[in-house]
Amino acid sequence: MITVIANLKGGSGKSTVLFNLALWLKEQGEHVTTFDLDPQGTLSDVAEVRKDEQFEELDVLTDINELYHCFDKNILIDVGASNMQDMKKAISKADRVLIPVSPSQPDLWATQRFLKIVKECVPDNKALELLAFVNRADTNKIVRESDETEEALNGIKSIKVLPYRLCQRTMFRRTLSEGMSINEIAPNSKSAKEFNMLASALYVELA
Ligand SMILES: Nc1ncnc2c1ncn2[C@@H]1O[C@H](COP(=O)(O)OP(=O)(O)O)[C@@H](O)[C@H]1O
Ligand SMILES: [Mg+2]
Repeated sequence: MITVIANLKGGSGKSTVLFNLALWLKEQGEHVTTFDLDPQGTLSDVAEVRKDEQFEELDVLTDINELYHCFDKNILIDVGASNMQDMKKAISKADRVLIPVSPSQPDLWATQRFLKIVKECVPDNKALELLAFVNRADTNKIVRESDETEEALNGIKSIKVLPYRLCQRTMFRRTLSEGMSINEIAPNSKSAKEFNMLASALYVELA
């Protein structure tokens, strides 16, 4: 299963989600291969932090050509808008695209634009699953943006919206700075619970 984590917007949480998803798969006893095809290199950097801290390493490949020889059951690919060529190639090889969306109008616009790009690079007859979810949701229930964003996403026919939001939480930010998964840093926290729900929905057979 090749899962590409993508959106046009930087900062929507692609690398944070991919890093945690890769470690979650390992925590479930799975093997996983990750690709960092974003020149920003966040995933490569955080894997380096893990190595320096002598935690169990996360292998990160950076050459898309290796994707054509990789038959791992679980493949996760991080892409960024500054390398559109690799983004499109990765999407055309993917079984599904996971799209984190921050709760704001510009993020919704960027998501719609991104979906047009996806359509251009995937033949109509290819079954490609497009899964979106709200990341960085506000923890304050009075703020309506997260609900509104999820509603707007639900109105887009080509995607399936996963009703498992990740809230804006310091713990998620810390996973990158410390090179640890949310379950390593803060097991039993609200953040870990949110993340595990999302991961279980993505890998139903492991949950
Ligand atoms: N749910 C969240 N809560 C708090 N911080 C988050 C969350 N998701 C992402 N971040 C933080 O936002 C910043 C950008 O996230 P990142 O994963 O690098 O985005 P992208 O890869 O889409 O550019 C990072 O500091 C990251 O840790
Ligand atoms: Mg990134």
